[in-house]
Amino acid sequence: MKNLDTIFHNQPVVPIAMINDIQDGLKLATILIREELPILEVTFRTKEASDILKAIKDHYPDLTVGAGTVLNAEQAKIAFTSDADFLVAPGCNPRTIQTAQDLGMPILPGVNNPSAIEMALNYNVTTMKFFPAEISGGIPMIKALMAPYQDIHFIPTGGINNENFQSYLATERVIACGMSWMVDKKLIEAGNWDEITRRVRLIKEMLKQ
Ligand code: 3PG
Repeated sequence: MKNLDTIFHNQPVVPIAMINDIQDGLKLATILIREELPILEVTFRTKEASDILKAIKDHYPDLTVGAGTVLNAEQAKIAFTSDADFLVAPGCNPRTIQTAQDLGMPILPGVNNPSAIEMALNYNVTTMKFFPAEISGGIPMIKALMAPYQDIHFIPTGGINNENFQSYLATERVIACGMSWMVDKKLIEAGNWDEITRRVRLIKEMLKQ
């Protein structure tokens, strides 16, 4: 099982995809491998998500694939059996965190206030998803929240795209960020793989700057 530091050290931008179809998931995985951005979060917002995640991991074991929008312990267990590498939750749910830890699964609980941060810290979780990032106050809010908590790290998601991700990554103790922009649901549904490839390449180029 990979740990979060290992996962995000070389992959500071995580594409977050909502996928309905296994073939679409495999096509997307092929693009991410080919473009050398070998990480993906598959959100559990579609009923097919766990099967798609499993199919991607079966075909591409080297692609790091997280399960996103994990809302409860049951979904955490399903993500585990689907071979997810990590879990991402929009909220800070103690039962979900405990289940993930019992399974030995890295989890990013979602936080955007001090009480949620302290809930995560109760479980020795120090790397958290800051969500929904932009609407919660963006970078100024991250700095304000981090001031009293010296040992936490954030992975912001929600409202992040090609225009603002570099500012987030330049913020102290932000180790990565997530965005659906690169793998927009509408582009996947339309089979617009060229545009998805263009966006992946753009983000890769911008990461070199
Ligand atoms: C998430 O699940 O973290 C967000 O839905 C991603 O947010 P975005 O669609 O604004 O990138």
